[in-house]
Amino acid sequence: MPTRREFARTAVAAGLGAGLCSKSDCWLATAAETPQWWLSPGRSLRECARERGLYFGAAVDPDRLDVEGLAAGRSRDGYTTLVNAEAGMVVAENAMKWKALRPTPSTFDFTAADQLMRFAALAGQQVRGHNLCWHQALPDWFRETASGVNARQLLVDHIRTVAGRYRGRIHSWDVVNEAIEPADGRPDALRHSPWLTLLGPEYIEIAFRAAAEADPLARLTYNDYGIEAESPEQNVKRGQVLLLLRRLKVRGVPLHAVGIQGHLLAGGPAFGPGLVNFIREAARMGLEVYITELDVNTRAVPGGAAEQDAAVASLYRSFLSQVLAEPNVPLVLIWGLTSAFSWLNDPGESWGHRPDGSRQRPLPFDDRLEPTPTFQAIEQAIRLAHPPTVTPAAAPEPNDGEDPNLFQPFAVKGSPAPASPNSER
Ligand code: XIL
Repeated sequence: MPTRREFARTAVAAGLGAGLCSKSDCWLATAAETPQWWLSPGRSLRECARERGLYFGAAVDPDRLDVEGLAAGRSRDGYTTLVNAEAGMVVAENAMKWKALRPTPSTFDFTAADQLMRFAALAGQQVRGHNLCWHQALPDWFRETASGVNARQLLVDHIRTVAGRYRGRIHSWDVVNEAIEPADGRPDALRHSPWLTLLGPEYIEIAFRAAAEADPLARLTYNDYGIEAESPEQNVKRGQVLLLLRRLKVRGVPLHAVGIQGHLLAGGPAFGPGLVNFIREAARMGLEVYITELDVNTRAVPGGAAEQDAAVASLYRSFLSQVLAEPNVPLVLIWGLTSAFSWLNDPGESWGHRPDGSRQRPLPFDDRLEPTPTFQAIEQAIRLAHPPTVTPAAAPEPNDGEDPNLFQPFAVKGSPAPASPNSER
């Protein structure tokens, strides 16, 4: 059985999918034949971002990386070379999720996650941790095993073990992922997640406090999607995310950043003041804003590769030019580097399916690991970025002695979400 990485290498070299490797199959064969344009100093996105004081990086699957080859200084694997050259920061696309780490209730399997840490150390890359608490990617045993009695211990033990293992080596952890879902109908807009059912709204605070104890140096992040575009739904969700962040800050919960996933939809609503106000509101709370999972879904864009590329590059341009103008946005991660391995081309992800069955091109490198017009769009946006300022830790919120109620909505200046009349501050 070939490993996934061997398969990927063979697939790329064999030109799987769309006739991979037009330049030559050979550029993957020897380092000397690797195209030099993205390896030359100053031309990689990693390098561009570093010059601007930012981090640029990508989600990766450690199983596809030739870690041993890199360690021995002789990797000829195209994907490994690309990740090494282009990403100044990496995040595990799946390898640090519960499902990957927790084969049984009492055991952990760190094989893939450790591989990623090793790769990043060899490549001089920062690592984001993703994620410690989410309603998805829970192991099959979770449903039968987790109960109101043991859930708190389960969550805290998991966070202590995972964040503790990598203590001091993680730039930032997505501590809680996707906790807000206004469509679920609760006044606090919390999603009906298993964690909410088992522990109540306090689960969020429990997770952040456990993460802070386990890794005091990591920047602790709340991460969510559907908060990018100018639509009524996304306006409401942005407001509710801000309310959640505000509640956490008021309660003194250790929270340093909010992650905007950035799974963008070509042909969807544009980006504008709602997004920018959200980032500024986060800055007023002393929070950094990370772009954590950027990609563009072209399922609604008719035409061929050129039409897709134009739509994707244009969305990256408009999104990144707005977010990178804000000084509290120090990093951009994209969800994969090449469409060859993008989740949007995964047959199981139905929202990625294009009606004509053609492959998505959501990232700066295509199925052949060649740059798409999106590469240049990202490069230009990074060059024009406002250099990030280090956000000082926010002073504790004034507290009149009462324990602020986590369930009570209150107004946040600039928030589009309505607040009850007696909750004005
Ligand atoms: C996705 C992965 O890319 C897929 O491979 C996996 O099958 C499902 O999860 N928001 C997140 C990510 O926070 O963890 C998700 O990643 C994409 C949406």
